Amino acid sequence: MNDILTHVDAGVMTLTLNRLEKKNSITAAMYGALADALARAEVEAAIRVVVLQGHETIFSAGNDIGDFLNAPPATSESPVYRFLRGIASFSKPLVAAVCGPAVGIGTTLLLHCDLVYAGDNAAFSMPFVNLGLCPEAASSLLVPRMFGYHRAAEALLLGEPFFAEAALEVGLVNRVVPPTEANAVAQAQARKLAAKPITSLIETKRLMKKGQPAILAERMVEEGASFGRMLREPAAREAFTAFMEKRRPDFTKV
Ligand code: COA
Repeated sequence: MNDILTHVDAGVMTLTLNRLEKKNSITAAMYGALADALARAEVEAAIRVVVLQGHETIFSAGNDIGDFLNAPPATSESPVYRFLRGIASFSKPLVAAVCGPAVGIGTTLLLHCDLVYAGDNAAFSMPFVNLGLCPEAASSLLVPRMFGYHRAAEALLLGEPFFAEAALEVGLVNRVVPPTEANAVAQAQARKLAAKPITSLIETKRLMKKGQPAILAERMVEEGASFGRMLREPAAREAFTAFMEKRRPDFTKV
């Protein structure tokens, strides 16, 4: 089965995470497919807007933990980093629909979307610390900026989930809707955008984000260096092994 479904219609490219049996956790191959799709959407005039969505029960359980354990990203050209650079620098509008758990990169990728619609069952979390890791996707910069420092510290130091209403309050999502409607709402908004002059959309997004690309790129390189090192260290290895063995991690020995 194709783990990333790609559909283009009426100027909208819809990318659907489709690995439900593993809670839409994202493998290197899936990051590669997402990065390739964004690169295609960037250059193809017929694609004016991209929608990223999951299932009404789950957006994404984050990075595939088996990949973290057995094939961690090795270089800046690894699919995950290609995807992160692609989403952070994407020049056309990006719309997301999020229902159920959005773990790790399932939450941090939303920081790079322009419009986000959440099901009222959405549960966002960035449990990097609980996995012996540190933030990625420039979330160490963007989350404090968006949430305020203290709420960011709860999300990133405690790594506890927060829910749709809190996400609405801090501005991570635009609207909370019933889970069965989230993908349709995102699609309707995307179609509204696709009917507008693309040059105006691109220029307006560029101006709203002016100054950010270089700062985000620099932060992602710094985060990536730490994240890549920490992935191979004992705390993270224990966290991933514990997840695979369906037990609680024991950090007392690392
Ligand atoms: N990587 C690889 N496999 C994953 C996964 C991940 N990130 N998340 C879930 N899965 C797999 C489980 O191992 C399980 O596989 P199995 O059926 O072969 O045993 C299957 O998906 C179902 O997961 P399960 O945990 O039973 O589902 P749930 O509904 O009880 O919980 C989550 C859903 C998302 C809350 C939970 O799976 C979870 O916390 N996942 C890990 C999230 C994480 O830490 N991601 C990394 C962030 S950096």
